[in-house]
Formats: sequence, structure tokens, C-alpha cells
Amino acid sequence: MLCFFLSLFSQIFQSGWTGVNERTFIAIKPDAVQRKLVGKIVQRFERKGFKLVALKLVQASEDLLLEHYWDLRNKPFFKGLIHYMRSGPVVAMVWQGLDVVKTARKMLGETNPAESLPGTIRGDFCVDVGRNVIHGSDSVLSAQKEIFLWFREGELQLWEQNSAPWIY
Ligand code: RTP
Ligand code: MG
Repeated sequence: MLCFFLSLFSQIFQSGWTGVNERTFIAIKPDAVQRKLVGKIVQRFERKGFKLVALKLVQASEDLLLEHYWDLRNKPFFKGLIHYMRSGPVVAMVWQGLDVVKTARKMLGETNPAESLPGTIRGDFCVDVGRNVIHGSDSVLSAQKEIFLWFREGELQLWEQNSAPWIY
């Protein structure tokens, strides 16, 4: 446990993940993969101007999901949530850009699609809270923890986005 936190804080310290370097963890859930929404969802983040830092198709293990959703372990829907998230592959991604954590949550919409405005991902693509197509980190600290949980350092790509001067 101590190693985990030391490593996490060293990553945060070294990378300075704030400002235009802020990063978030986004996962396209199994229902959206099955419904062929991957391209449309990825396109929304690209068009917004965020930079793709990592992307992979993953069949998540139970251990990974238990850790990912640990805060919700006592909720009545927890077992169903783990089952849903294990029902097929998810597209795990890291996106980078100014205020990306907060802005991505706005782009996702509310947890319950019924409360999500049209124009948001959940507002446009789903109707049921138990099949809400996408996950996004809820804070900069959660993002750092989740990126560390889902990706190895070498899977994060450092590259120059040619359009950056047109975005910032
Ligand atoms: P996420 O972590 O997946 O981005 O979703 P969120 O922050 O908007 O909502 P959170 O409270 O973290 O819940 C995680 C996921 O659990 C499922 N859920 N089901 N049946 C229910 O009442 C219920 N409430 C939440 C959803 O899939 C939600 O995204
Ligand atoms: Mg959440």
C-alpha cells in the first residue's frame, strides 16, 4: 500500500498533471462497445481538442474492477455494476488537456441518463443508469489513481499534437 502511494505521488510530482497537461481516465463501457458507439464517443473528445494519450481494448478482471469501484462497494447496485463491467471488453483511454477532468464529466452528462441533457454522451446514447455507456474520473486525484490502475507507464504516449497552437 505504501509503495502504491509513494509511486502515485512521485508520478504526480514528476508529470505536473495540471493546466494543459491535466489528464483524465475515460472508459467506454461494454454496452457501448457492443452497440458500436466507440468511434462516435472517441470523436467527441478529439473534436473538443483533447489529446489522446492512451487507448486499449481490455477485458477487465474482477480484481481491477473491485479496486476501480472500491468507493461504491457497499452500494446495493455494486454486484450488478461489476457484472455489467465484466460483460465484455471496455475501451480504456487517457485524454489530456486544459480542465479535462471537469470538462469530460460535463461531456458525459449525469450518472443517470434520464437526467443528462441532450448533447451529452449519456444524454444522447442511453436511457438506463445501469447501462450508461461511459465512465469518467470525477477528480484530478481519482484520474491519477485510475490511470495508474489501468495503464503501465510505457502505455502512455508522449507526442506533440500539431493542432495545439490552434486550440490554445
Ligand atoms: P462512473 O464512475 O462510471 O463514471 O459513473 P459516475 O461517476 O457518474 O457514477 P458513480 O456514482 O461513480 O457510479 C458508478 C456507476 O455505477 C452505476 N450505477 N448504478 N443502479 C443505480 O442506481 C446505479 N447508480 C450508479 C452506473 O453505471 C454508474 O456510472
Ligand atoms: Mg464515478
